[in-house]
Amino acid sequence: MAAALKDMASNIAEKLPGHATSGAPPQLPSEEAVKELQEKYKKAGQEQVFTFYDKLDTAGKASLYKQLSAFDPDHINKLTKKVLDPPKTDEPTAESTKDTTAKDASSNIEPLPASALSSVLDSKEEDLKGWYESGLELIAENKVGVILMAGGQGTRLGSSAPKGCYDIGLPSKKSLFQLQAERIWKLQQLAQKKSGKGVPVIPWYVMTSGPTRGPTEAFFAENKYFGLEKENVFIFEQGVLPCISNDGKILLESKERVAVAPDGNGGLYTALINSGAVEDMTKRGVKHIHAYCVDNCLVKVADPTFIGFAASKDADIATKSVRKRSPKEAVGIICQRNGRPDVVEYSEIDDATAEAKDPKQPDLLKYRTANIVNHYYSCRFLESIPEWSHRLPHHVARKKIPSVNIETGDVVKPEKPNGIKLEQFVFDCFPFITMDKFASMEIRREDEFSPLKNARGTGEDDPDTSKKDIMDQGRRWIEAAGGVVEDEGDKSGVEVSPKFSYGGEGLELMKGKTIKAPAVIEKE
Ligand code: UD1
Repeated sequence: MAAALKDMASNIAEKLPGHATSGAPPQLPSEEAVKELQEKYKKAGQEQVFTFYDKLDTAGKASLYKQLSAFDPDHINKLTKKVLDPPKTDEPTAESTKDTTAKDASSNIEPLPASALSSVLDSKEEDLKGWYESGLELIAENKVGVILMAGGQGTRLGSSAPKGCYDIGLPSKKSLFQLQAERIWKLQQLAQKKSGKGVPVIPWYVMTSGPTRGPTEAFFAENKYFGLEKENVFIFEQGVLPCISNDGKILLESKERVAVAPDGNGGLYTALINSGAVEDMTKRGVKHIHAYCVDNCLVKVADPTFIGFAASKDADIATKSVRKRSPKEAVGIICQRNGRPDVVEYSEIDDATAEAKDPKQPDLLKYRTANIVNHYYSCRFLESIPEWSHRLPHHVARKKIPSVNIETGDVVKPEKPNGIKLEQFVFDCFPFITMDKFASMEIRREDEFSPLKNARGTGEDDPDTSKKDIMDQGRRWIEAAGGVVEDEGDKSGVEVSPKFSYGGEGLELMKGKTIKAPAVIEKE
């Protein structure tokens, strides 16, 4: 079944432009093959990509041919036409490209119905405990897996290394990857303690992209997979799409290379199938998946409460959310459109919708359910990817893309946006399910959401706020356990290692103790 799924998806994926190819060094193609490909691009009005082909050396010819063979210029034209001249419809249709004008992105939406919303803020203690316990049992039964989306390039952070390698300045100097790995490790231990059986495995599926794969693999290897077993860490790569000029032409980054960009975090779905990740989940008997973004230092990886909550609702997709801080906060909003779950991204929402007040509680925003990209998926939903992945729309990002001037052959670095990148968004499959298979859980921001988006010194969602949020959380945990934390000047808070406590549990021995900040509590 799983192998059949993979074959089916590979067939689809090979027709898709984002499909990444790998393997042996490119071979020089036959003249006939080059002619055929050239003809295909010419027919599509994209023959400019061959402008310098004849003057390239053998390696250059082989690599450009290989890159161009992986794309279908007709398909790219179709996508480009739809984003530059979008159809007037809300429903994503087959091969559709989402109409990304702000007005349309915000049209026909309503807040989520109460039936799809829960909140840890007002849930009964017994419900929360029940979800936690059942989630931990599912972990003990090896039924839970984790997907990390780590293919982004972290442009706003201004670091060239993958974001997960970033040291946010904690006393321990742990990277984001390490914090997340240690949470997985700790949960495996907690689940083992509960079941009294062997230590279970939470497989970790790490999505990278062309630019982040090599450094991510090297970082994991150097750090010995942070104490996890290598065979339970599955690193895979998302696809790319060509960058397009404002007049619809595929851009060249050099004479022998098309300018490409990762296909957005919605490239996850095709990549999960092509890489064999879903097949691996099926083989392992995994039934419940937690997916999240690399940049959130507080993320509760494989959170048993969330897994137990979603499983108890028999959901196919569930999300966590926080209350949106202000109309301008750069977060998507989770909502419904035509009765189906949906998300409107911050880059596409119109001002009136972002600023609208809740008529029943005018102090609150009408659309305040902020998306923090913590998703639950049932494995059966991920197994159905080949049935719907071709329907995921594309969004447009206007960018300054360095590219070759076809007349002169020089690489030009533009001052203003000269082209577009096409991206898929991971939440765009939400409307493919009905509301009864969807659930959303509001959580406390200070406990679970502190994304690293901006460079140090920005004062918002930057390395200093990430560090502070971890240190403050440690303090809250120690104080809740009856300990005292003493600050000295600007030295404040406590770093509690995830290997010591996953979510504040197990700190009883801190009762009556005084801890001088900044402290690190590392091992049991
Ligand atoms: C994202 C969400 C937004 C949410 C916000 C919360 C999407 C499309 N948008 O926005 O709704 O409110 O986070 O912080 O999900 N990534 C890839 N491959 C790519 C691009 C991104 O794996 O091609 C990964 C990144 O590594 C990161 C995550 O996706 O882990 C989010 O990407 P980012 O560009 O930071 O998203 P935001 O614009 O902040």
